[in-house]
Amino acid sequence: MTSNQHVPSNEQWAELEMAARLAAKQAYAPYSKFSVGAAILDGNGKIHIGCNVENASYGLTNCAERTAVYAARANQGMQEVAAVCIYTPTDTPTPPCGACRQVLNEFGPTMRVRAICDGDEMIDTTLDLLLPGAFGPKNLQEPAA
Ligand code: THU
Repeated sequence: MTSNQHVPSNEQWAELEMAARLAAKQAYAPYSKFSVGAAILDGNGKIHIGCNVENASYGLTNCAERTAVYAARANQGMQEVAAVCIYTPTDTPTPPCGACRQVLNEFGPTMRVRAICDGDEMIDTTLDLLLPGAFGPKNLQEPAA
């Protein structure tokens, strides 16, 4: 989508981490009992949150990261994601699943990705490292006439 080179400040990371922790409290995870919270920083410096929302059909479960992206777009017309922070109340951090990597890529192919947990470990990386060779908007061209 856009170049997206914005690097969150330490203060913005602190806000993202707090927002992700709060979002995990809203998780609807009666089946897995695995609560996830996500917070995204958009291109205008606004923070949006999401949590996982499971379903009795299991397969229709929506991850926290995708919930955050869809809510941000629907509520605020978010155009660009600069960073995402994922929190799980676990001993080790949780990286975004493949489906979420693809959805995040649409709005920020080089965004910063951080995953935090209740243990000491954290993941600090970028989306292009997690999803190399991504398929995205740039690959959709007009079909040859
Ligand atoms: N989950 C997320 O919300 N984000 C991830 O990146 C990994 C998995 C959720 C989906 C499901 O509700 C639960 O965690 C267990 O897979």
